[in-house]
Parts: sequence; C-alpha cells; structure tokens
Amino acid sequence: MNRTKIAGIGYYVPERVIPNSELVNLMDTSDEWIQERTGIQQRRYGKPHQETTTTMGAKAAEIAIERAGIQKEDVDLIIFATLSPDYFFPGCGVLVQRELKITHKEMPALDIRNQCSGFVYGLSIADAFIKSGQHKNILLIGSEMHSMGLDFTDRGRNVTVIFGDGAGAVILQPTEQNEGILSTHLHADGTHAEELAFINPGCHGGYHLGQERFGYPDAEYGGIFMTEKMWNDQDIFPNMNGQLVFKTAVTKFPEVIHEALKSNQLNTTDINMLVPHQANLRISQFVQRSLGLKDDQVWNNIQKYGNTTAASIPIALCEAWEAGKIKSGDLVCLAAFGSGFTWGSALIRW
Ligand code: UT7
Repeated sequence: MNRTKIAGIGYYVPERVIPNSELVNLMDTSDEWIQERTGIQQRRYGKPHQETTTTMGAKAAEIAIERAGIQKEDVDLIIFATLSPDYFFPGCGVLVQRELKITHKEMPALDIRNQCSGFVYGLSIADAFIKSGQHKNILLIGSEMHSMGLDFTDRGRNVTVIFGDGAGAVILQPTEQNEGILSTHLHADGTHAEELAFINPGCHGGYHLGQERFGYPDAEYGGIFMTEKMWNDQDIFPNMNGQLVFKTAVTKFPEVIHEALKSNQLNTTDINMLVPHQANLRISQFVQRSLGLKDDQVWNNIQKYGNTTAASIPIALCEAWEAGKIKSGDLVCLAAFGSGFTWGSALIRW
C-alpha cells in the first residue's frame, strides 16, 4: 500500500531575537519567572509591516521544496495551518501560493485552524489525500506571526511571554518503500474552547451558549466585529487558563502517544525521536518522564523560539533532522495539544 513520506523539510525563524530581558522592560515579569515556569530564554519576532505569517511560511516552503528536489510548480495542493493569519479572510493558503508565484498552477489551497495541533492535523489530511491518489506533492505549512497580536501590558503577561514567531514546512509525497507516515490520531473536545482563545473581534456579539458571557450588549448589527467596549477594555487579545491547559496537556500528550504506539504494535522503547509541540518545557519534561524516554529521545527547542503554535513541530523536526538526530529508518513520533482543545499524534518511519 502507498504511504506518505516527508520528502523535504524546511523552517524559517525571523532574525530579531527577543530575550526575556526585553519583555521585562514592557511588563511586570522576570527572566527567572519565565525560565522557571516555561523553560523559555528567548523567542523571535518578525519585522512588523515587512514579514507576515505568509511570508515566513513561504520562506520555509522554499527550503522544503528545494530539499524535496521538486520545482514550485510541482506542488499540487497547499495546506496552511495557522492561528495568526494575515487576514480574517482569505486564508494564508492562497496568499502563500501568490508569494511563491505559482498562481498559474491553480492548484487547491486549503486553510486549517486547529492551533497547536495544526501541523499534525495537516499531516493527517495530507496523508489521506496522498493515499487516495488525488495529490502527489503536497506542501504543508505551519506558520505564526504571534507578535502582532499579543498584549504587551501586565494583563497579558501569562500569554505573551510564551509565544514566538516562525514557520515550518514539509513536502509530502507517496512512497512504496517501508517508510513514511504509519498512522495519525486526531482528537478534539470543545468543552473548554474559551479557556485558550482569541475571542474578539468575532461574530459572537457577546453571546455565548445562552449567557451574555462577554458582556457586549452594544453588539447588535454591524458592530459585532469590534465594539467600542472591546476596544476600551482592550479585550482584544488571546487569553489562557494556563493551569487548566497545563493539566489537560500532560494527560492528553501521553494518552495520544500510547494510542499511536498501540495501533502499530510498538512500544515507547521503539521511539528514536519524540518531537512534541513546544508548549512549555515543563510539559515536554513531564511527558518524557511519564513515557520513560531518555533525553536523546526527545527534541526540545522552546528555549530558543518560545511556543510557535502550528510552526513548532515542523521547526523542531527540521532542526532535529538537520542536527543528524533523525536518520533513515528511525521511528519519529510527533504529538501536539492545544486550543480547542485539540490534540493528536503521528508516527513516522523516516
Ligand atoms: O500551546 C499550548 C497552549 N499553552 C500551553 O500549553 C500553556 C500551558 N500552561 C502553562 O504553561 C502555564 O500555566 C503558564 C506558564 C502559562 C503559567 O504558569 P503557572 O505556573 O500555571 O502560573 P499561574 O498562571 O498559576 O500564575 C502564577 C502566578 C500568578 O500570580 P499570583 O496570582 O500567584 O500572585 C500570576 O499572576 O504567576 C503570575 N504570572 C506571572 N508572573 C510573572 C503569570 N504570568 C506571569 C509572568 N511573569 N509572565
């Protein structure tokens, strides 16, 4: 049976390094707090008005395309995962097609959300398209420009210190060899959708599941995207119930990894490299301990880049591969958890 392999991989992170010490000048936080709670030492921010989620995604894509040994024109489907798109609509899929100058190909461009799980969801979608025979060169991108949408005041400090900008991309192709994606497992539970969310502006108009939860009664017609009250309250940034996310993540990560291993009759000892979504170094360390993995079986880079959401797995995977830590025949496990809540895993024979 045909499988789907990663034929090329690339990543791009912006040049501008933001150490914790720079955030200390903007809000009530400290290098010690950030490092102790998250492991993060620095992150990258894109150049405002010059770089966007799309342009960073295009740079990562160009590297992946070159490494796959194909031409841009060979791409026959674009899948773009992000929670920080350039525009409300259209999505970054068509924008990156234009940025790569392949609009003449008129291939489909698919935008997916799924936040921190976006790359694993995208991989699963690409795998299904490849197996169906419908597409042969799929470009999957995870890219985020968080820095343009964060609250740099004390109120947003629990969220803002975590996130960074960057992009990762892969080219997916069919293979008949004993390699490629062995399985993907995806999950979602919308019960806590607002516990890690960027709610305003939006069309909820202040009404949520029968309650005036957000308190924007002025949103009747037309004003639902941005009300004066939202602006005055500066209630226009992401919010997170960090402890709930943390507790759920440390349960769901091991669960979905075990699910993947079990369905392939494999064990944790078979994993050569686990690349977890880089949410928090403490979460990754907890997952490592609960699976009994050694340090050289897990790749972490959140110290350098912060949490880059949909981009974090492809960036980390590419770094691990470039460092020679992933070799042909290795069993690679990807796992993600995040807003939604959504979570998932993928097992890949490299
Ligand atoms: O990508 C997937 C989604 N995200 C995650 O997986 C994140 C999961 N959650 C976490 O990583 C952690 O919950 C955080 C790192 C976000 C927060 O760590 P925590 O240990 O859960 O802290 P907390 O929210 O319980 O806050 C503890 C204290 C509070 O002060 P008080 O009430 O004890 O006086 C916060 O106000 O730390 C305070 N605090 C900060 N202090 C300095 C919150 N953010 C900061 C900050 N700097 N940046």
